Amino acid sequence: MLDSKTEVILALDVESRTKAEKILVATGQKLKWVKIGLQTYLRDGPNFLHEISSSGKEIFLDLKLHDIPNTMVKAIESLSDLPIKMLTLHSTAGPEALEKCSIAAKKFLPNTKLLAVTVLTSMNQNNLTSIGVENKIPDQVDRLAKMAIDSNIDGIVCSPLELMRLRPILPDSTTFVTPGIRPAGSATGDQKRVMTPYQAAQAGANFLVIGRPILASSNPEFALSEIQAEIDR
Ligand code: C5P
Repeated sequence: MLDSKTEVILALDVESRTKAEKILVATGQKLKWVKIGLQTYLRDGPNFLHEISSSGKEIFLDLKLHDIPNTMVKAIESLSDLPIKMLTLHSTAGPEALEKCSIAAKKFLPNTKLLAVTVLTSMNQNNLTSIGVENKIPDQVDRLAKMAIDSNIDGIVCSPLELMRLRPILPDSTTFVTPGIRPAGSATGDQKRVMTPYQAAQAGANFLVIGRPILASSNPEFALSEIQAEIDR
């Protein structure tokens, strides 16, 4: 994945299905990838995924599974008919859970890459320390990412700030997906470890996950085009 072009994934985190459909129409053919997270999946369910997929989009289902190994494996089994290209798990579920999920995904979701979330991009060092993790953020991300890849997970979700360290220590085939993307001048909100789309693409991200900077724009199609132009610069 190292030399491939960086692609934008729209995080479709909106308050109603009507709004979600409106954004999909507004962004049109410019948008190839859609990320469905808890807000939209819990409300609109699997049927919406089938609808989005039949309109020609690729789907990243961001459920961030985190449970005991058996429950995670059964959750993957329950997703088996869904048209999803990427699915997230929390790496902190540990190596046994990740390895078992990788085996289950080969059987039940053979066309889906599993991605391990490392340290959430909304966390800073104080937040990490407050949950009892003494490591510095970059060391913790390295540790979780290496563990996930050793457990046969296909890709890593991290801040673009951590890509420079991770690229050299993980196989070239690793898919890197980075949230925490903010075009210059846009509000960071709860995101703390951020970079611009250009910086993240330069750092080697395969996919940039972007929500509010596009969703909050009065012209989402234009916001998306600007971001794509910035990446291609
Ligand atoms: O609106 P914004 O661009 O901050 O959206 C980022 C998206 O990426 C959200 O849907 C969030 O759930 C997701 N995400 C994240 N940090 C992670 C993993 C996923 O922000 N580590």
